[in-house]
Amino acid sequence: MATNRTFTMIKPDAVANGHAGAILDRIIKAGYKVVALKYTKLSAETAGQFYAVHSERPFYKDLVSFMSQGPIYAAILEKDNAIEDFRKFIGATDPAKADAGTIRADFAKSIDANAIHGSDSDENAAIEGNFFFSNFERF
Ligand code: CMP
Repeated sequence: MATNRTFTMIKPDAVANGHAGAILDRIIKAGYKVVALKYTKLSAETAGQFYAVHSERPFYKDLVSFMSQGPIYAAILEKDNAIEDFRKFIGATDPAKADAGTIRADFAKSIDANAIHGSDSDENAAIEGNFFFSNFERF
């Protein structure tokens, strides 16, 4: 069943480059309700757990290293058709292939430093949101 919720992270590159405020502003202006929001930092261990689904992929080690290099914003967002709409809104994983006007086209530098994450399914949105947030942190 569709939950109309997605999970996002503003990644260490976008935070370090000072783009977090602009990205959050765009998200809210695009009609997403912020259900939960946290400024935090993954350790190598927690990043490894979060991305365990990619543990056999060749980019896993670099991904874990990149995602634990600096603070991030994690958030649960709510909107009709949230998963599909948010993935269109942020653009392709590789910013070189992202449509003009998307978050990744405007703020990302490479497929690793790609500024933002968006869940790819309702099931993963729930798993990813539960990784970061308790029920007392959602409104
Ligand atoms: P994201 O979809 O947020 O989560 C997995 C990340 O792995 C992805 O963003 C990219 O930043 C990174 N990544 C690096 N290389 C690849 C690749 N070849 N295919 C998919 N994701 C990749």
